[in-house]
Amino acid sequence: MASVATSADRLTEAWELGPLRVPNRVLLAPLAGIGNWFVRLQAKRYGAGMAVSEMVSTHAIHYGNEKTCVEMLRIDPRERVGGPVSIQLFGADPAMMRSAAARVAEVGADAIDINMGCPVAKVCKTGAGAALLADPDRAVAVARAAVEGAVGGQGALPVTVKLRSGLRAGETSGFDLARRLVEEAGVAAIAFHPRSAAVQHRGVPDYTLAARLVESLGAPVILTGGLGDAARVREAFAVTGASAVMLARGALGNPWLFAELVAGRERAPTPAEVVEELHWTIERAVEHLGEPRATRYLRKFYPWYLARLQMDAPSAKHLQAQLQQSETLGEVRQLLQARPAALALAV
Ligand SMILES: Cc1cc2nc3c(=O)[nH]c(=O)nc-3n(C[C@H](O)[C@H](O)[C@H](O)COP(=O)(O)O)c2cc1C
Repeated sequence: MASVATSADRLTEAWELGPLRVPNRVLLAPLAGIGNWFVRLQAKRYGAGMAVSEMVSTHAIHYGNEKTCVEMLRIDPRERVGGPVSIQLFGADPAMMRSAAARVAEVGADAIDINMGCPVAKVCKTGAGAALLADPDRAVAVARAAVEGAVGGQGALPVTVKLRSGLRAGETSGFDLARRLVEEAGVAAIAFHPRSAAVQHRGVPDYTLAARLVESLGAPVILTGGLGDAARVREAFAVTGASAVMLARGALGNPWLFAELVAGRERAPTPAEVVEELHWTIERAVEHLGEPRATRYLRKFYPWYLARLQMDAPSAKHLQAQLQQSETLGEVRQLLQARPAALALAV
């Protein structure tokens, strides 16, 4: 195993994902209800080598659901600067996957990821997400259909699959399926989350199992799980030997983590920088959803940014409640501006 320091240098190296060149090895993971074009753009602005969308329903794309096709498949030209954009699809029907993959290629995605890791009942009861681990033949058929459908103007798009290690603790059905997906379906890389679906996002990921997959799979492995800060990312990247890492909860309201890992940024953002970034996010949400919907949508974003404002806990809690109860974004902007005294302390 390479030392953590030597291997961390490799995070900034380019690598090949099928026909694509990805400029570095630190990617944004798919995040349901969050990973839209502007969250992906934010990650790219801070140096992410590739960003994956929130999961999108193949059923909704196939039947032309307007909100899905207009909002969730929206790719902003600014996102393309600095590396590819991947759209994640979920579904258990090969024919629908083929049709959705074709549509995703048409709208200009560079790659497609298939969700075989989501443990949520709403998804699993349709046979999709982590439920596909229990039906490996179907999983291979779904992935093959995506590979066949994903032919865009620039040729075939690489298809990746994001997998759990298994359904229950100690199971390795995901590990076993990875090889079939690569060999039988032509999948270009596996994004591996070495936790079972049963534990959802709790507990320590099994990096030993991820290292075994890296050694045995004839395709790149992208590691996800437990990558909450730069030290943990560097350590997990070194011990697994993965080709790349995907940041998920660690990147929520924290695009600076990308800069730390790929551009050598050493200091935490100042409160003024955090507030400025939150204003940027608010403006992009308005651009995406219009003001009334953005007001509601942004409520889940505030706690992530407040956590970085270096405020004492009661003040942060109070400000969070005020932001989340605001009826307009004008009120939100005022609340953020009314904080300069508290924020200036640590600038
Ligand atoms: C709010 C939230 C939404 C997520 N949405 C998706 C999703 O749409 N598709 C997916 O494959 N994984 C999804 N995940 C899983 C993450 O991509 C990632 O694999 C997981 O959080 C483990 O990484 P972490 O421990 O570093 O957060 C989600 C996780 C969270 C916390």
